[in-house]
Amino acid sequence: MSILTELITREQIAERIRALGERIRNDYKDEPLVTVCVLKGAVIFFADLLRAIGRSTTIDFMRIASYGCNVTRESNVRLLLDLETDIAGKHVLIVEDIIDTGHSMRCVLDLLGTRNPASLAVCALLDKRERREVPVDVAYAGFVVEQGFVVGYGLDFAEGYRHLEAIHILDPGA
Ligand code: IMP
Ligand code: MG
Repeated sequence: MSILTELITREQIAERIRALGERIRNDYKDEPLVTVCVLKGAVIFFADLLRAIGRSTTIDFMRIASYGCNVTRESNVRLLLDLETDIAGKHVLIVEDIIDTGHSMRCVLDLLGTRNPASLAVCALLDKRERREVPVDVAYAGFVVEQGFVVGYGLDFAEGYRHLEAIHILDPGA
């Protein structure tokens, strides 16, 4: 039996997103901005963050996946869905659910960086900073997570638990 332990409440999430949205709104002022949702895990965060930013942005989506499920997995990241938007000369904010080893985001940053955006920044709801294997600059981080595997608010384990309103630590149990 899996055990869920609430780690971050829906109220804490809402309050943090309100603050992130305000910072992003102030930082980009009236500059055109492309916000990129990294599917699938960031989708719920993205929807709330857009409303907290409180101004028009061009929204777009991309999807990446790591090969297989090996623990080391290195930098084996595959692009499954690419942007529709031409980001050359534009400010781009990548919105992700969680940065763990950093390999996925490093891959996204390297790829989008080749397309000559005016700027490229990362907003991640959760940051497992201590597990980083490659450097990633997270300009806007929601919460630092110290340990454990987390689910809920878009984050899944084997496609489960995305619907939960709070973020929980998943203990797969015995
Ligand atoms: P990274 O490439 O190791 O940084 O992995 C990032 C991706 O792994 C995230 O976008 C998630 O899809 C997934 N991931 C890493 N840690 C967790 C977790 O605790 N819960 C759910 N998904 C996670
Ligand atoms: Mg993800």
